Amino acid sequence: MNDLIIQNIKQLILPKSTNRPLKGKELDELTTIDNGTVVVKDGKIVYSGEYTDEYEAKETIDASDKVVSPSLVEAHTHLVHGGSREHEMALKRQGVSYLEILEQGGGILSTVEATRNTSEADLLKKAEKQLLTMMQHGVLTVEAKSGYGLDKETELKQLRVSNQLADKFNLEMKHTFLGPHAIPKDATSNQAFLDEMIAMLPEAKQYADFADIFCETGVFTIEESKKYMEAAKEAGFRVKIHADEIDPLGGLELAIDEDAISADHLVASSEEGKQKLNNSDTVAVILPGTTFYLGKEQYADARGMIDNNGAIAIATDFNPGSCVTNNLQLVMSIASLKLKLSSNEIWNAVTVNAAKAIDSEAGTINKGDKANIVLWDAPNYEYILYHFGVNHADKVIKDGRIIFDNAISESTINA
Ligand code: NIG
Ligand code: FE
Repeated sequence: MNDLIIQNIKQLILPKSTNRPLKGKELDELTTIDNGTVVVKDGKIVYSGEYTDEYEAKETIDASDKVVSPSLVEAHTHLVHGGSREHEMALKRQGVSYLEILEQGGGILSTVEATRNTSEADLLKKAEKQLLTMMQHGVLTVEAKSGYGLDKETELKQLRVSNQLADKFNLEMKHTFLGPHAIPKDATSNQAFLDEMIAMLPEAKQYADFADIFCETGVFTIEESKKYMEAAKEAGFRVKIHADEIDPLGGLELAIDEDAISADHLVASSEEGKQKLNNSDTVAVILPGTTFYLGKEQYADARGMIDNNGAIAIATDFNPGSCVTNNLQLVMSIASLKLKLSSNEIWNAVTVNAAKAIDSEAGTINKGDKANIVLWDAPNYEYILYHFGVNHADKVIKDGRIIFDNAISESTINA
């Protein structure tokens, strides 16, 4: 006997199963079925597609006024960190830029201070709350970076917390070592600090899937980033890079040359870099929530990247400084408004392609896949992008079981 049938689904969204990221025109291909059925047994998908009454199950959910999709994949977060930086909003209002705040010892460095001074148990408690909010918003696969320690002890503390979260919620998480995220105040030189981070790669490998670096003016150069990425590959990592976020240093080209699994941000990437995506499976992870939060006019040229036959994904970049939201739905709306992408492209970018950016098989609910599913309280999949800033996830189903029921009913209010 099957466990669950989701029946009469108003609109069923089925991204394509694929071994490599969707590129170029493929990103605009998405199967949407009106009046669909999904059948689940033992936490796996038995059937997903057109309406059928062939199956029986212990439980049936009527989804005649719901959209159903795979759960979302969050491919870029700085989930585990201490403190918060609301005081920076006043600086921003006065026109102080993100890199100026960092130069003055604020920004990332102030979160480093807070993270060093927060116990492992408290970091876990804080990150857990943020993670549960993500899950409540329909995300069941999460990448999380370190990078607020800039010393061995704290970097490993962050990575351990990230691993503990995955265990605690039996959640698919990918962990990224981002030791070279900024230069600590007490570093003798950039070079010496980078060497220190390179020396800890083998130890970080016990807790992390990927190695990442912040390649930016005033942080790490292209040459330093190349050196780090090559050392990380030697140590057995797939690599990632925060590239061309503010200045066009050529981080995207470097990522492609180093066969990075993803290059992230890419707001200022060059035409050459974007063209190079044509012959590469490196996923361009676009973070439009960050551009919005930093108050920038220019968004990453995701349209140009897709038109050059590139692979893109979209993520929040959730962190305490440059993008303080863990609501991926909000970022999907910003993508829709600012990146000139179609709804199909955006849904693929937060499901199957986001999964490819973090070496995960999530993002699809085709036969045999894990039953990680979201029922959305919306008339169609475009509506979720259109009505922005609220949580449309009605039910979140993990391994075939409802873990969040956000439905509003008369009993919701204690009136
Ligand atoms: O991806 N740009 C570098 N790192 C983060 C921001 C981290 C922070 O400001 O705390 C980012 O935007
Ligand atoms: Fe980031």
